[in-house]
Amino acid sequence: MQADFKKYQAQTSPHPLAMEISHANGSYIYDTNNKAYLDFVAGVSACPLGHNHPKVVKAIKKQLDSYMHVMVYGEYIQKPAVELTKLLSEHLPENLEKTYLTNSGTEAIEGALKLAKRATGRSEIIAANKAYHGNTMGAMSVMGFEERKQAFRPLLPDVKFIDFNNEAHLNKITTKTAGVILESIQGGAGFIEPTPNYLEKVKARCAQVGALLILDEIQPGIGRTGRLFGFENYNCVPDILVTGKGLGGGLPIGAFTASGKLMDLLQDNPKLGHITTFGGHPVIAASALATLKEITESNLIEETLEKEKLFRELLAHPLIKEVRGKGLMLAFLTPSAEITNALILKCEKLGLILFWLLFEPKAVRITPPLTISKDEIKEGCQIILGVLDEIQQTTTSK
Ligand SMILES: Cc1ncc(COP(=O)(O)O)c(C=O)c1O
Repeated sequence: MQADFKKYQAQTSPHPLAMEISHANGSYIYDTNNKAYLDFVAGVSACPLGHNHPKVVKAIKKQLDSYMHVMVYGEYIQKPAVELTKLLSEHLPENLEKTYLTNSGTEAIEGALKLAKRATGRSEIIAANKAYHGNTMGAMSVMGFEERKQAFRPLLPDVKFIDFNNEAHLNKITTKTAGVILESIQGGAGFIEPTPNYLEKVKARCAQVGALLILDEIQPGIGRTGRLFGFENYNCVPDILVTGKGLGGGLPIGAFTASGKLMDLLQDNPKLGHITTFGGHPVIAASALATLKEITESNLIEETLEKEKLFRELLAHPLIKEVRGKGLMLAFLTPSAEITNALILKCEKLGLILFWLLFEPKAVRITPPLTISKDEIKEGCQIILGVLDEIQQTTTSK
């Protein structure tokens, strides 16, 4: 399997972790030698209820027995998609009422960018340096990391960049701007939270010049930061909200949500303003609906803040320079990329899954399932501290 994996399945990194998976359950993933790995990553923030949550599996199986794909997006009334979009709107402010379901986060970003252009009749998009919004051409155009996009130019014209949290840059948002796209917490950059009132000021500037604010909640959204949506922490309601990852409960999804008035623009001039075959797929929508219900009907969201506290208490070590983020969207920084690499690889050998962030090589990602128990948090942190002790001893004895 290892050889076939490298020969037939396209890779985008020379050193994939290449763990061969047998099955997964709760906070654990098992390899084909039946070795258990405690999961502090949750498929990169995509499995909020852990692995194979019984309510999610039940909803998927029930839907499989009824029907799978029957028609392209939006033509037929399919209960799972209708109930999911309704439930989302019940948990969102009034202006975020209507949702378009896509196949991935990056596609939802494409839809949001198109909607901003269509609604304003303008073409300029403003994004943030070090932002990550996905990997298709439009989403990559608003990624604030030149090194990873240079080879794919030309990308979208009329994209300008500002520094996240720099209020002096807000005057770059003008009457030429269709939309401003920001993550509510910058992920790839190193889990950077907005400074107090920053997002509020961005929104005010957008309103002043008639631009739309798009908040990308693909990572912070769906309960990870102590609120169902990250923006609720920062007193700023976007014009267009983009979600994905955790919403699918382990199946692929993306979504963009706006007012009925904005969304209805996708119906004409031109009609079919965004189309997809599989978006709103009934099995995926059933999984997302069961996930969203469980997250909103349980105490999981409030518990993320207690769990964050526990992580912050436990992750005290001379090689941990800083712990960033909110709730269960946390990252800690070691003094160097080499230490971070050694830590992540050694922890995997010891049965703990950690991972990197895209653009901050010193950071270690901690985004476990929201369902992780306090004992599991203690177990994983013990492993981290033990490995850091070892690394410290070998570096000081050199
Ligand atoms: C903030 C953010 N936006 C967009 C995306 C793209 O989502 P997807 O990988 O589902 O296309 C990601 C994925 O990592 C993300 O973290």
